[in-house]
Amino acid sequence: MATGISGGFGPCMSIPFLDIQRQYASLKDEIESATSEVFREGAYSGGPFVDAFEAAFASYCGTGFAEGLSSGTDALHLAVRALGIGPGDEVIVPANTFVATAWGVSHAGATPVFADCDPDTWTIDPASIEKRLTKRTKAVIGVHLYGQPFDFDGVAEVAERRGLFVIEDCAQAVGALYKGKRAGGLGIAGCFSFYPGKNLGAYGEAGGITTNDPAIDERVRSLRNHGSVKKYYHDEIGFNMRMDGIHGAVLSLKLKYIDSWNEKRRVIAKRYRDGIRNPLLKFQKTPDWATHAYHLFVAVTEKRDRFKAFLEEKGVFPGIHYPVPCHLQKAYAHLGYGKGAFPNAEALSVGCLSLPIFPELTDDEIEAVIEAANGYAG
Ligand SMILES: Cc1ncc(COP(=O)(O)O)c(C=O)c1O
Repeated sequence: MATGISGGFGPCMSIPFLDIQRQYASLKDEIESATSEVFREGAYSGGPFVDAFEAAFASYCGTGFAEGLSSGTDALHLAVRALGIGPGDEVIVPANTFVATAWGVSHAGATPVFADCDPDTWTIDPASIEKRLTKRTKAVIGVHLYGQPFDFDGVAEVAERRGLFVIEDCAQAVGALYKGKRAGGLGIAGCFSFYPGKNLGAYGEAGGITTNDPAIDERVRSLRNHGSVKKYYHDEIGFNMRMDGIHGAVLSLKLKYIDSWNEKRRVIAKRYRDGIRNPLLKFQKTPDWATHAYHLFVAVTEKRDRFKAFLEEKGVFPGIHYPVPCHLQKAYAHLGYGKGAFPNAEALSVGCLSLPIFPELTDDEIEAVIEAANGYAG
């Protein structure tokens, strides 16, 4: 629980990495009215509240279609399946991402092939993709990491040459823009997470897919609903990955606020970038064409654990995203990668620390984070 103290900060101030209750407090009445409608209608699984969210979300992302799902992990899984990718196929995935990007590939029976990131933007490096291509490669999943769009044109150039699909992992990037276009509308499919802590968060697990391709949209609708388009007729082995009505209603309501929340995140990030003048810290390089959604604000430093302990002593509680790159996770030991395979991703995993960033941070808290970061001497 954070306690703002005006006029400075003392040892009793505690600034959490994220406090989702503050947003709920600001929306309580609207949320209660939106959710009570779902209860009145009894539309709990899929149904009109999910349909309405899907229409609004497709329009927001500038895509022809959007489908509500049960999680971001399921979105990645169904996107890969809907493209007909499966056993024997390979999909290139950045080594530095939340591991669920790779789960999407593994759940479809295909093999994730990891690639390194750019040392400055920390998003997937097209040159590394090039080195990982084989005859089995069918797609690349780029991740808009921490909310910053990846170099889509750079990735698409490699993909087009080899006839590969480009899937966007937009789990951290709702509302981010690449050259003026929304994340989710760039590749063959965009995969979103509406996990509670995300920029657009449900009150439980939820996710979604955007696409401009009617065939992919249709396939996702079937796969999420037991492989069925007509009730009790099952054309293929499917899943129960529908979105709940409550989440549809909550997300429709929250979608109205997402641009103003993301703008607040950008203002906080600018204050951090301008105010933190510590040569021991390095930040994500953001190209001119990227409008960052700042799901996370990450600093890299040589002695990360020491920096973390220092901040905590000052009452600032950071996160780590992520301490182990995918290729070094036990779950993927069978793929045979070793330390040193992807130096940029590995350096990031050792040095990264996520400072508190969420729209409801107070001025005093932002100043306290800046002061604490500037006070770190290594
Ligand atoms: C980059 C990335 N991909 C995928 C996911 C998976 O989303 P979910 O937790 O909704 O399954 C997340 C969320 O944590 C994520 O950050």
